[in-house]
Amino acid sequence: MTCAPLATELKAPNGLIWEQPQGLFINNEFVSAGSGRLLATVNPYTEHEICSVHVAGAGDVDKAVSSARRALKDPSWAMLSGTDRGHLMTRLADLVDQHRGTLASIETLDNGKPYSVSLGFDVPHFSEVLRYYAGYADKNFGKVIDVGPEKMAYTLKQPVGVCGQIIPWNYPLDMAAWKLGPALCCGNTVVLKLAEQTPLSMLYVAKLIREAGFPPGVINIINGYGAEAGAALVRHPDVDKIAFTGSTATGKDIMRMAAATMKAITLETGGKSPLIVFDDADLEQAVRWAHAGIMENQGQVCTATSRLLVQSGVYDKFLDAFTAYVEKASIVGDPFDPTTFQGPQVTRAQRDRVMSYISGARESGATVFHPSDKLPSRGFFAPPTVLTGLQRSAPAFQDEIFGPCAVVTRFDTESEALAVANDTRYGLAGAVFTRDLSRAHRMARDLEAGMVWVNSSNDSDVRVPFGGVKESGLGRELGEEGLRGYYNIKAVHVNLSSR
Ligand code: NAI
Ligand code: MG
Repeated sequence: MTCAPLATELKAPNGLIWEQPQGLFINNEFVSAGSGRLLATVNPYTEHEICSVHVAGAGDVDKAVSSARRALKDPSWAMLSGTDRGHLMTRLADLVDQHRGTLASIETLDNGKPYSVSLGFDVPHFSEVLRYYAGYADKNFGKVIDVGPEKMAYTLKQPVGVCGQIIPWNYPLDMAAWKLGPALCCGNTVVLKLAEQTPLSMLYVAKLIREAGFPPGVINIINGYGAEAGAALVRHPDVDKIAFTGSTATGKDIMRMAAATMKAITLETGGKSPLIVFDDADLEQAVRWAHAGIMENQGQVCTATSRLLVQSGVYDKFLDAFTAYVEKASIVGDPFDPTTFQGPQVTRAQRDRVMSYISGARESGATVFHPSDKLPSRGFFAPPTVLTGLQRSAPAFQDEIFGPCAVVTRFDTESEALAVANDTRYGLAGAVFTRDLSRAHRMARDLEAGMVWVNSSNDSDVRVPFGGVKESGLGRELGEEGLRGYYNIKAVHVNLSSR
């Protein structure tokens, strides 16, 4: 397929046709990259190029940042009331809903996730997050503080400023919504850098941003490579804050780079979250959630419960039931087929990375189950995999694999379960299956994690804070807590006396 420089017509297997933007979205215009370079984005199911998009270099990042800086003080944005900012956000959510089929098609073409999931979850969640934060836009203000009769003090919540936001490829629309929602709510302006593997859906949303009536420069959207456009954004002296979702290694690079200008940062990085099944658990329930917790979204989920810790009394029974369930439920295939549960991994590199963990585990003597290994003949597919018999220090037991690959181990006591669960550099999430109320709450308290599920896994909610401890990140997204990274508090002291 050949591509026009700034837009091209695309068609999905379901028959939908749309005009796909390919440029950088700066100051409400689609523009060519100054670098003149393009990158091809690939459909991971067909392994063919979908189209190419413009690649931002440092000069383009500079233009996007200047545009956001101008917009920050422009009366068309700076003088809007919170209520009016909320209206703009709601209008964007409505437009996203109206374009739901097209956006879901783009997401599936570019990322490989099943169309049923893009349509049923990813797109509606985008508008859900925007509406949630639109509701906060006129309910987020400072306090008057009682400091005695001679003085008055109050606080103002003010925007942090120009926010650089860097997102990954596993939920291209939703990671953008998690970042844009609170930033716009609080009156900031944004330069959003998309993941180079999945640039198309948010470039389409850029059209809707303009249509919704956001003033030029409030939201700028660029595509480009992490080490170049991403790093230029993090280093830029005129960017006030960086919000990032991605790997722990890149998160650490960002902390180092942000130190030069002491930028505020929020980071949501990797995980290797445990799912702990006690002897007294409802096993059928534990099996269902264990499957969803590691196999959904092709296992490309930061909060995936990828380490299954199962108590000795039910270990064999659980393992049999779990592998049988994976065989039945993990239908692998064409992401546009409505029966498909698992599509391809996002790129060849990610598929190869998953496969190298599996072969490494096999070489070290682990048992490798592929409950359903009937893979399509093309596409970047990884088979649903269950690994047992691994050393707890093995790479597959300790590292984030980011694929449909669960490791299972056995424990005897609650204290052993806790010790194994916490023996990781990560601290994103954890799940506990038990019918013992006291044990459930003890585990919830003692797991070193930002989020704990009792008798479920990965059921995140826009109203509930999301984020990790240890090397899983800094700060929280979603919920009221998600606003915290997007305003500064200013204290004002007023002398009421004649002193
Ligand atoms: P990555 O962390 O390198 O990329 C995520 C985003 O950061 C992309 O937009 C990328 O362009 C940008 N980036 C990369 N290097 C940068 C730099 N030096 N400065 C600024 N921005 C930079 O992740 P990658 O390579 O795509 O995936 C590797 C692994 O990371 C995955 O296998 C998975 O384990 C983990 N990951 C975790 C995610 C999460 O949701 N927490 C999402 C994506 C990946
Ligand atoms: Mg792609």
